[in-house]
Amino acid sequence: MPRFRFAFAAMLTLAAAVVAADAPKPEKVIAYRQSTYRLINWNFGPLGEMVKGKRPFDASEAKLRAEHVAYLSHFLDEAFPAGSDKGATTDAKPAIWENQKDFQSKLADFQHEAQILADTAGGGDEAKTKDQVIKTAGACKACHDKYRAD
Ligand code: HEC
Repeated sequence: MPRFRFAFAAMLTLAAAVVAADAPKPEKVIAYRQSTYRLINWNFGPLGEMVKGKRPFDASEAKLRAEHVAYLSHFLDEAFPAGSDKGATTDAKPAIWENQKDFQSKLADFQHEAQILADTAGGGDEAKTKDQVIKTAGACKACHDKYRAD
């Protein structure tokens, strides 16, 4: 019991330390952001290739890739804190922080389409899955057109 109480106290101390921690440095946030997009791209790429006929449609691979994209899309929720517009090379445009409402709605659209994609791919229907890959790619593009530098 005392040992348990000690562990609990240690946990609380740790939790307090986490809360009190300084905001991550902008260059770390930018690295996190770009890494997340690379992971998303890694998983979305094969889906795009299936749509373009560069790769045969494979229902189980499509399901796995779509689930990964949907899951990773939520990693972006913490990828654009204030102050991460500079500090390392970034293609994120300042407009992101000037139009937070619109930017967040574009992010939410992407997360929504990616979830529909995961659900659709889970059903195994090739035509429906491909249609939803195209819709999801549209959500990527809608954000890139406005908020990512060329
Ligand atoms: C809500 C906006 C938004 C959405 C949605 C979005 N992106 Fe991006 N993407 C960005 C921004 C902004 C950057 C630039 C990040 C930086 O350089 O800091 C970026 C960068 C990237 C990069 C380059 C990463 C690197 O190596 O630096 C890739 C690849 C990418 N996105 C792919 C995608 C794909 C694929 C999708 C959809 C499946 C997608 N993005 C959806 C805004 C978005």
